Amino acid sequence: MGKLVICDHPLIQHKLTFIRDMRTNTKDFRELVDEVATLMAYEITREVPLESISVQTPVAETQGKVISGRMLGLVPILRAGLGMLDGVVKLLPAAKVGHVGLFRDPETLQPVEYYTKLPTDVTERELIVIDPMLATGGSAIAAIDVLKKRGCTQIKMMNLVAAPEGVKAVHDVHPDVDIYVAALDEGLNDHGYIVPGLGDAGDRLYGTK
Ligand code: URA
Repeated sequence: MGKLVICDHPLIQHKLTFIRDMRTNTKDFRELVDEVATLMAYEITREVPLESISVQTPVAETQGKVISGRMLGLVPILRAGLGMLDGVVKLLPAAKVGHVGLFRDPETLQPVEYYTKLPTDVTERELIVIDPMLATGGSAIAAIDVLKKRGCTQIKMMNLVAAPEGVKAVHDVHPDVDIYVAALDEGLNDHGYIVPGLGDAGDRLYGTK
């Protein structure tokens, strides 16, 4: 079963409190989400493999460690996932970026794929799917489905806030996917919002409400 990792670093938890606060304006919200994404990128890469190489310092030759293994790919789910992308790219500047766009069909309430553009070597990369909110899990499952249908095998999820229902839904369908969150909240309300959550992440990032 995939693991759920709560990134409980004090800096992440501190910044998340101000992200949640409804008085935080668009500019500050965006900056805080960006900063937390950078800090979460540090946590999500904790287990990437290293290899030794020799390096010549000004004083002596020595062995240093560099990242080895699969290269990384970042896949923000449009549109709110874009709000976390730059923060992750700051730490992982060589990562390639794919995009998956999904909307919810108003009749069936199921996510529908409307846009996908992935790096050509996506199947060789370890992927991080990025979305601030993991609510019902519908979009996350659909985005992971898109990636697996194209042959991707190594996928992690990064969310700011998750509901237990969303975590369970993703792990039921995709038990191989580890989920990294800044907080696991109480649950969902009747409108599908995470409680206490932070409201609509896309609207708060882009000032559309
Ligand atoms: N999407 C959001 O932006 N917020 C929620 O609380 C749930 C889904």
